[in-house]
Amino acid sequence: MSANALRSERLVLRPWRTEDLEAFSRISADPVAMRHLLPLADRGASDAYVRRIEAHITQHGFGFWVVEIPSYKPFIGFVGLMHVGYEAHFTPAVEIGWRLHPDYWGHGYATEAARLALRDGFERLDLKEVVALTVHANHRSRGVMERIGMTRNEEDDFDHPRVPDDHPLRRHMLYRLSRSDWETQNRTS
Ligand SMILES: CC(C)(COP(=O)(O)OP(=O)(O)OC[C@H]1O[C@@H](n2cnc3c(N)ncnc32)[C@H](O)[C@@H]1OP(=O)(O)O)[C@@H](O)C(=O)NCCC(=O)NCCS
Repeated sequence: MSANALRSERLVLRPWRTEDLEAFSRISADPVAMRHLLPLADRGASDAYVRRIEAHITQHGFGFWVVEIPSYKPFIGFVGLMHVGYEAHFTPAVEIGWRLHPDYWGHGYATEAARLALRDGFERLDLKEVVALTVHANHRSRGVMERIGMTRNEEDDFDHPRVPDDHPLRRHMLYRLSRSDWETQNRTS
């Protein structure tokens, strides 16, 4: 079962539409947005990346959702959950990920959207744990991880199997959040 849309105070997380591919290709071509990521070489690679996300949503009922600011911007990037698609010491696992156009950084949108996706993961999808991964230098991404309550254990660091040997982006940090820790952090009383 898929979520039709997730809503917070300022944002909607929704499935992809054809017109989103053009907007996403502008992020894929942006050197600031892609600084800590493996490049998507051209429009075809950018579109293929979205098609893989859509296939995941169709198969599992969740994935990296489009982030929309209602009545203002129909597409600012994506945030959501995906199964980790390779083997590593922490898999099988579901990761939370985000990628916004730099015009929309610095407003708390990634954190707000990530909180929605996490709630969906723990409440609707009944996940036991969500992980996140990034390179050391990606301080903005690590900031989101820490704001949503994830923690990193240095012993979990790993070499990303999809990044070539000796590539500067190969070494990754792993952040984790268990459902029980999330429930403790989100207890209202
Ligand atoms: C990672 C990424 C999503 C983080 O974006 P971000 O704007 O730094 O994160 P948020 O949307 O949570 O915004 C937090 C900032 O908004 C500020 N902010 C402003 N208004 C806010 C509000 N109403 N609520 C919360 N924060 C607010 C916060 O103080 C914080 O500012 P700071 O950057 O000075 O610390 C973004 O940098 C990105 O898309 N990067 C490229 C892709 C990428 O690397 N993805 C991760 C791969 S692992």
